[in-house]
Amino acid sequence: MTNILCIGAGYVGGPTMAVIAKHCPQHRIDVVDINEEKIAAWQSDQLPIYEPGLKEIVLEVRDKNLFFSTEVDRHIAEADIIFVSVNTPTKTFGQGAGKAADLQYWEKTARQILENSTSPKIVVEKSTLPVRTAEAMERILNSNDKGLFFDVVSNPEFLAEGTAISDMENPDRVLIGGRETPSGQKAIQAVVDVYAQWVPRERIITTNLWSSELSKLVANAFLAQRISSINAISNLCEKTEADVAEVAHAIGSDSRIGPNFLKASVGFGGSCFKKDILNLVYLCEFYGLPEVAAYWEQVIKMNEFQELNFASKMVSAMFNTVAGKRIALFGAAFKAHTSDTRESPALAVSRALLEERAQIVLTDPHALENARMDLEDVADQVIFEPDPYAAAKDAHAIAVLTEWPQFAELDYQAIHEKMVKPAFIFDGRNILDHKKLYEIGFNVYAIGKPPRSHFSNRAT
Ligand code: UDX
Ligand code: UDX
Repeated sequence: MTNILCIGAGYVGGPTMAVIAKHCPQHRIDVVDINEEKIAAWQSDQLPIYEPGLKEIVLEVRDKNLFFSTEVDRHIAEADIIFVSVNTPTKTFGQGAGKAADLQYWEKTARQILENSTSPKIVVEKSTLPVRTAEAMERILNSNDKGLFFDVVSNPEFLAEGTAISDMENPDRVLIGGRETPSGQKAIQAVVDVYAQWVPRERIITTNLWSSELSKLVANAFLAQRISSINAISNLCEKTEADVAEVAHAIGSDSRIGPNFLKASVGFGGSCFKKDILNLVYLCEFYGLPEVAAYWEQVIKMNEFQELNFASKMVSAMFNTVAGKRIALFGAAFKAHTSDTRESPALAVSRALLEERAQIVLTDPHALENARMDLEDVADQVIFEPDPYAAAKDAHAIAVLTEWPQFAELDYQAIHEKMVKPAFIFDGRNILDHKKLYEIGFNVYAIGKPPRSHFSNRAT
């Protein structure tokens, strides 16, 4: 039996460890966190995060070989392999503020591991970190007078929220990086052995430490770049009567380009893309490569433009004013099938419309509580309404900001009847039937498509 510990019971640590526990009944998995409330939630029937399929697995393995606890020190002492999955947000102060990763929790955790260890351990970086962080971690861990040696291994996560369980169950690849020394290779093998319980060996890629650390940032940068590229083109489509969905299909059919991650949208969100690209930008600047930094920074700038431009297109379509107008925003989560609102375009659009003095009604099947916390400073100006029909009642406009499939299933005829006329709908995710909505009487504005308005053939 191997004692596996995960420090950090968040969106990554929780689902990852639940799947490892399911496939490795011979090992004991403990997940610890400093947040007592979160641990209590993991121990209850109300898990702290919504993720399809997660609850079933947790109920299957919890208290068998998966345990949640706040006793960080004790579990460190007992562990053989420690996954560290504490948060590494963008630094808000000092050198690199706004771009570099804030490693204070990671460093604190490394020191805590050292303090409580009486045997050598493998420490696995699960959190996204700047390339060469492992070097610093090795220095902290191995500068001890206990005669202990720690191997640091990088095993970045590639799971996407909303599909975390299936991504873990059936990953495209698992990446494990380590030192090229005999001890480093042994540590890589120990982590490979865990995943090999259910992942075909050919999908487990092993590399040196730095390739692994950097690959995580680069993977997210490439994914976000595809969205920013198609979003950039969506604006050109709106000016030229090209249809971005048709363009995406046409280019994505080229196998060199591929069909995925080409959905034009109101913008990308989530805890990773912006943070990781800013981290990459900072690294490029740090290593004296300003042109490379500027190249990747543009992916973020394009996304910020996409979010704000969406709000300003709403204002201009609605006769250049939304002051006092009720606007129903369908979706607060940064994508469908998650309760997570971190960096959600819905927040940026809400704030932009509030600046125009609109009256915002936000609806979402799972993310309203998180949105309430994110918008705490303006909460008195926002109505949080779980029922989309109630949210749209007496509204001048609806804007779809998250691609929840249930938003496409609503009875828009009934919704239209209860709205102020002329009624507007802005589909920031292109999930609705635009022709049908137009026939019902809506003025329909989608991303990268010619508008369908009852006033004229051109966007106002
Ligand atoms: C993680 C990684 O931290 C991030 O770098 C990566 O890019 C995505 O995955 P996530 O799991 O989404 O992020 O973060 P979060 O849900 O905030 O979970 C981190 C947990 O670590 C929190 O529950 C926090 O309480 C805990 N934590 C933080 C500790 O237990 N100890 C600490 O010292 C700091
Ligand atoms: C991402 C990476 O996909 C994952 O591998 C990594 O481990 C963490 O970061 P995540 O942020 O959970 O995962 O979600 P993702 O599915 O990548 O979506 C990110 C954002 O892009 C969402 O706001 C989504 O709505 C948007 N998106 C995605 C688009 O706008 N268009 C697309 O074609 C795809």
